[in-house]
Order: sequence, then structure tokens, then C-alpha cells
Amino acid sequence: MSMPGNAGEFIGTKYGYDVFIPNPLPPDINYDEELQLLLSKADGALARLDGVTEVLPNPDLFVAMYVKKEALLSAQIEGTEVSLKGVLEFEANIKPKEDIADIREVINYIEAMHYGMEMLENNPLDLNLIHGAHKILIAQTRGSDKQPGRYKTAQNYLGMPGCTIYDASFIPPPPERVEDLMKSLETFIQAKDNIPTLIKIALIHSQFETIHPYLDGNGRMGRLLISYYLYWKKILSKPLLYLSFYLKKNKSEYSECLNGIRYDNNWEAWLKFFLKGVIETSENALHSAREIIALKEKTIEKLILFKAGGINAVKLIDHLFEDPTISVKEVSELLNVSNVTANKLVNRLEEIGILMEFTGKKRYKKYVFTDFVRIIERGTQI
Ligand SMILES: Nc1ncnc2c1ncn2[C@@H]1O[C@H](COP(=O)(O)OP(=O)(O)O)[C@@H](O)[C@H]1O
Ligand SMILES: [Mg+2]
Repeated sequence: MSMPGNAGEFIGTKYGYDVFIPNPLPPDINYDEELQLLLSKADGALARLDGVTEVLPNPDLFVAMYVKKEALLSAQIEGTEVSLKGVLEFEANIKPKEDIADIREVINYIEAMHYGMEMLENNPLDLNLIHGAHKILIAQTRGSDKQPGRYKTAQNYLGMPGCTIYDASFIPPPPERVEDLMKSLETFIQAKDNIPTLIKIALIHSQFETIHPYLDGNGRMGRLLISYYLYWKKILSKPLLYLSFYLKKNKSEYSECLNGIRYDNNWEAWLKFFLKGVIETSENALHSAREIIALKEKTIEKLILFKAGGINAVKLIDHLFEDPTISVKEVSELLNVSNVTANKLVNRLEEIGILMEFTGKKRYKKYVFTDFVRIIERGTQI
């Protein structure tokens, strides 16, 4: 019999190890003073973040860059070594110097994010969507032998790299229990209850990680779920809350809190850890958004000061806030000017430090809007 608040039970197997079977959500939660305070602070931080998107020059594009950043960090949590530059190079059709398989993982994450958001326009957040996203996430990567879009068919476990199941720090439920447990999670996701949204998201994420339904990609999928839920419930008008930076920075505490749920029924420590992450992350994103706004003004002032390029230059700058990499040919198409004119403008912007060539090639050069990228890439450097 499980007691209220109990996260679940460890069950012995004939192989000698114990697997964990979580109870259905929600547990009984002790909303002590600290938890309440964190919850209201987190709600406030989210609301302030939401407010700033209205004054951003290009909210959708800021979001697009932020999604890249999240994809990068979420993949980095799992040890993928890719930089923002590597991803931008790949997207700009430049052969990246970094491992293409690693970059693929980041690109897949971005695609899975978009897929989810699109699906959520007309569909609920359900298991079908989660499978679809997982399929995209794992496609054509090192994990593609790991059953994309299908539940695990073998027992998985967590622990130090290379450890055996007998030294595992946590052994999730066996494959035959996954379907029921995921159905139960889906029921909770869709239930109309009075649980505060951020608490609900934290519970969903931890339960997903406890079930560990797939052979691989459970961490990334679980973090995507956070974004999906926020988007689905329209908590933010733009999907801008991405916790991977915080989770990467506090990776061992993240793991300890998840284990604290199972071994000590300590939901509160996990929830507090999660809410602190929401606060810190919202504040960071707000700060970046303000920096972007300031950069826009600063860049326009620079154009005026150096008398660089008039209306065409302003148009180009607008575009660079959407997509910070560009070639001369693209400039000429964008502005409908000759190659010579485009080339002149690009050179001028390079001279005054707005653009920087980053391919190191003689032909088919690509330029990057460095000040912009620097704001976004903070925390992703490897
Ligand atoms: N103690 C733990 N229990 C369950 N899940 C954990 C624990 N510690 C970390 N995790 C989650 O497991 C993820 C790793 O699982 P994995 O299936 O390899 O996902 P991915 O391939 O996305 O890295 C981590 O990113 C984290 O989200
Ligand atoms: Mg993995």
C-alpha cells in the first residue's frame, strides 16, 4: 500500500535488481512558506518576461534564436559538444568544423520544438504528440538505432557512464509497465485541476524522467514537455522559458532532486529546485531581451554616426535580427540591389564592426551579426 505523498514503490525482480514503479500524479504536496514564496516569485518573473516580448523589435525572431539556444543547451546536458556557431554554420549551408552528428541532434531538437508547437495549435498535448516529437528528436542520430517514436523494449537504467544495472543510481519501470504509466501521465497532463501551472509542469517533467519511457532522448523529451505545456496553456504569449541552462549548470542537483522524489518522497525539494530555475531563467531571458532592444538602438545609432548605407542598411539590420548570418548574394536579393552595391554595404558594415566574416573563405563568404549572436550564445560556450 502506498501512503499519500508516496512517489511509488521499488519492486524486486528475478534478476536481483529493483525497479521503481511511480504512483499516479498528483502527490500530496506540503506547500510550506518557502515553496509558496518561490511559486509567487516564479509566477511574477514569468509575467515580467511575458511583458517584455511586446516591446522586442522582433519577438518571433528572438524566440527563434532562443529555441536554438535551448536546443543547444539541452543537447549539451547530455554531453553533445556543439556551439551556436556550429549550428549557424550548418543552417547557412557551410560545412561545420564540429561533429555533424552532434549538430544533427541540435537541429532535430529545434525541429521537434517546432513540430510540437504546430501540433498544439489544433491538438491537445497527448502521447501521440510526444511520440511524434521523439521520432524527430532521435532521427538520424547516434540514437536512431534506439527506436525513435517507440517505447523502450528493454530495461534501461541511469548511472555513471559505463556502469552496469547493478550499480545504477536509478532503475526506471520495466518496458511492460510503460504504456500504462504513460497513459496515466497523459491523464494528469490533460486533467483540469487546481494545481498551480508551474507545479504541474514540474510534476510532469519529473514523472516523465521517472518513467524514462524511451531507450534514449528521455532528458531532451522531458525538457521539451516543459515548453510544450507552457505553450499549450498559453502561459506565455511567446515560448521563451527554457530551463536547460539552469539544469546544465546544476546538473548534479537536478539528478539528486529527481532521486529524492523516489527515495525520500521529497517532492518539495524538487519543486523548489524547479521554481528557482524558473525564476533564474526568466530573469536571464528578460535581461537578454532588454539587451536585444538596446542593441537595436545602438546599431541604428552606429549606422547614422558612420553614415553607413541609409535605408538599405536599416533594412539589412532588421533582417539580421531575424537571421544573423548572411552572404553578399543574399543581401543583393534581400534589398534588390546589384552585387556590387551589396558588396559595398557588407564591407562597410564589416568596417564599422557590425558584421564579421566567419567562413575564412575567399568565395561564398558568410557574415555574422556578432553583437547579436554574443547575447544569445551566453552560457552555451563549450
Ligand atoms: N536520477 C535521475 N533519474 C531519472 N532521470 C534522470 C536522473 N538524472 C538525470 N535524469 C534525466 O535523464 C536524462 C538522461 O536520459 P537519456 O534518455 O539519455 O536522455 P537524453 O538522450 O535526452 O540525454 C537527463 O538529461 C535527465 O533529464
Ligand atoms: Mg542519452
